[in-house]
Amino acid sequence: MLEKSGEPGSLAEWYSKYLGKKGILRTLTSDVSDLAVEEKKELGRKVNELKSYLEEAYAGILNSVTSIKKDKPLENFYKTLPGKKPEIGHLHLITQAIREINEVFSKLGFIRVRYPEVEWDYYSFEALNMPKTHPARDEWETFFIDLPEDPKLGKVVITPHTSNGQIREMLKGDLPIRMLNISRCGRRQSDINHVPTFYQFEGLVIDKNISITHLKGVLEYLIYNFFGKDTKFRLRPYDFRFTEPSFEVDVTCGICGGKGCRFCKEGWVELGGAGMVHPNVLRAGGIDPDVYSGFAFGWGVERVLMMRTGLKIDDIRYLFENNLKFLEQF
Ligand code: FA5
Repeated sequence: MLEKSGEPGSLAEWYSKYLGKKGILRTLTSDVSDLAVEEKKELGRKVNELKSYLEEAYAGILNSVTSIKKDKPLENFYKTLPGKKPEIGHLHLITQAIREINEVFSKLGFIRVRYPEVEWDYYSFEALNMPKTHPARDEWETFFIDLPEDPKLGKVVITPHTSNGQIREMLKGDLPIRMLNISRCGRRQSDINHVPTFYQFEGLVIDKNISITHLKGVLEYLIYNFFGKDTKFRLRPYDFRFTEPSFEVDVTCGICGGKGCRFCKEGWVELGGAGMVHPNVLRAGGIDPDVYSGFAFGWGVERVLMMRTGLKIDDIRYLFENNLKFLEQF
């Protein structure tokens, strides 16, 4: 009945009939002299419930009527016409990937942490076995912030990798460690598979008797869970200063299926680095390398996402252009 009142004029009539001073609701409680106290209470409760229900319904209809533009006469209000749906967004592809990566690792007992993106040189380089003048630093093409240097911690940088989190986690002094540090990094790079701002996820496991087989098992678990069992991967020997031995990990390209394309060139795509934590790094983190050992890995979130079969994103920069036509496809 209230819906019918959407027709002009009858809404006010409806209100006075049910909720007005002389409305039906008032009359329901006007003659209660014959009722027992308990019955009066029960009636009062029910009438109040009914009143709130009717008032809410009335407010809803009133809203829809008054939201019609004033210059249009109310006769043009068709109450059965479906309303306009507000546009609803969705999580950005990178956020979706970060959440999924976190979920995969949480099943293995990794705990997500986040360490500074604006960081001291010490945590990003020096404590990771890269002294001030070491040429290995060049590879990280770092952005330096124009701020005073600290005598011990050095310059301020935009951290070029999430490995800064390794030292910060170790210094918490809470062993064993199963850390997952997902955070933003910066490097002076931009091309089809590099952007100046990107995300990495860093795993760090420190305990007694940790070996390279544990590392391989965890990486395999991630790859099979994220890409499926058909994806091939390989560990390529590499030389990070903070792990020994070190590897880079490649998967078959999800864009061309490993045939070779403009993104991968030869069918393999590097997702990140990994290795056994160097004894000097354990020492810098206050951990005795004769008692504890561990592994670490640091991978690019965007590259991992792009290698998903079927996505066919063949230029990493699309992910950061905020072009809705692109983003709405996913
Ligand atoms: C590192 O950053 C090491 N910290 C990884 C590591 C951690 C090794 C722990 C050993 C132990 P690398 O520079 O290769 O390594 O970068 C790792 C991954 O980050 C790359 O494979 C890529 O997936 C991603 N990445 C690096 N630079 C960029 C960039 N400019 N744009 C997008 N992704 C990038």
